Amino acid sequence: MEELRITLRNAGKINPELIEDYIKVGGYTALKKARETEREQLINMLEQSGKLRGRGGAGFNTGLKWSGAFKAKGAIKYVVCNADEGEPGTYKDRMIIESDPHTILEGILIGAYAIDAKECYIYCRGEYENSIRILRKAIAQAEEKGLCGDVKIRVHSGAGSYVCGEETALLNSLEGKRAEPRLKPPFPTVAGFNAKPTVVNNVETFAAVPAVVEKGADWFCSIGAEQYPGTKVFSLSGDITNKGCFEAATNVKLRDIIDEFGGGVANGKQLKAVQLGGSSCGFLKPEQLDTQVDLDSMREIGGSLGSGALLVIDDSHNMVDILVGMAKFFNHESCGKCTPCREGTLRVAELIEKIAAGNGSSQDLEEIKLLSDYMNMSAFCALGQSATTAITSAMALFPEDFSAKIAKEV
Ligand SMILES: Cc1cc2nc3c(=O)[nH]c(=O)nc-3n(C[C@H](O)[C@H](O)[C@H](O)COP(=O)(O)O)c2cc1C
Ligand code: SF4
Repeated sequence: MEELRITLRNAGKINPELIEDYIKVGGYTALKKARETEREQLINMLEQSGKLRGRGGAGFNTGLKWSGAFKAKGAIKYVVCNADEGEPGTYKDRMIIESDPHTILEGILIGAYAIDAKECYIYCRGEYENSIRILRKAIAQAEEKGLCGDVKIRVHSGAGSYVCGEETALLNSLEGKRAEPRLKPPFPTVAGFNAKPTVVNNVETFAAVPAVVEKGADWFCSIGAEQYPGTKVFSLSGDITNKGCFEAATNVKLRDIIDEFGGGVANGKQLKAVQLGGSSCGFLKPEQLDTQVDLDSMREIGGSLGSGALLVIDDSHNMVDILVGMAKFFNHESCGKCTPCREGTLRVAELIEKIAAGNGSSQDLEEIKLLSDYMNMSAFCALGQSATTAITSAMALFPEDFSAKIAKEV
């Protein structure tokens, strides 16, 4: 099976540090076309027929988001590119940035034109030093060629926390405040950066925009799943033969991504579970893999698409051991703003560690379920609400792993 590349179409083919290379393969023609199109018409194309849904996890219609910011009152508006990429196992945005930064800049500039923004920010994960360097170099080249016009793009080095990827925490961080999520509504399209209308989109979303503008909505809609058209970049990790990023049409089956692109489970072992979307998502069993990878199909079987992080787990593992790292991660990354998440993630991590060490009891499992319900219902943001999704999913799908630990068999 062949990859289908839209956002990674130039990866490995051009020198990412030379704007001339990008221009040679048709770069920045979509920006020219966009600027010659009425703003409403451009947004409408993305909203009505384009159906480009955000690639950062939630899958919101990009055109609808841009339309909200365009219609919002105010002379000052902003565009923000979310390159925080803190979800464990996710490294697709880094791949896009470091192989083709100009396609992201072109997408951002099209967004800036669409909503009439003059200032744009790329909030990039601080550890991605090379990505930050490449982005800054690309911006300088685009400015020198006069492609930015009166639009300024700045790269902001992230503050180093998972919650900074949550769009409202990101905006607080960008404003120099603590990276704590804000209450929504108001949504960023109405009151975002500096309380002005702001579009926040993921790197991969912006990277898809030039191709959609260039080739049209019908072309984009002819690829992949009907309600989630186009392609998605997956980052493969865990017990899989080929680790790396692969881009595929969204109607590809999950099994094909694992077997065809990933080369199957590593070292000839048997597949036990797959987690698609990152640590905040549930697990899937091998018999569920003949399902399309688009967001809606995955949700139907109790999974998720999230960021496209694909963790493969072979049958040599007890799931409880894998959950220890995830529980500790959420406890470490909880911003502490609300009690259910701050205290809940701590207690859940303690309980999972206790069970993994062979000192747990069935009451501990009951306590985890109870805490999980509380957190799910009352945590302030999606971090706390989904911090135990992987754990409760593993409890439902692999109860024998928990029983074995409690009985001290493993
Ligand atoms: C805890 C948490 C972390 C997140 N991290 C990221 C991230 O690293 N990158 C990202 O694009 N979106 C992240 N999101 C989703 C953003 O809040 C937002 O939905 C996204 O940037 C919107 O872009 P899109 O519509 O293009 O997907 C995160 C959400 C939560 C709750
Ligand atoms: S759920 Fe967690 S990350 Fe979100 S606001 Fe509450 S403490 Fe912070």
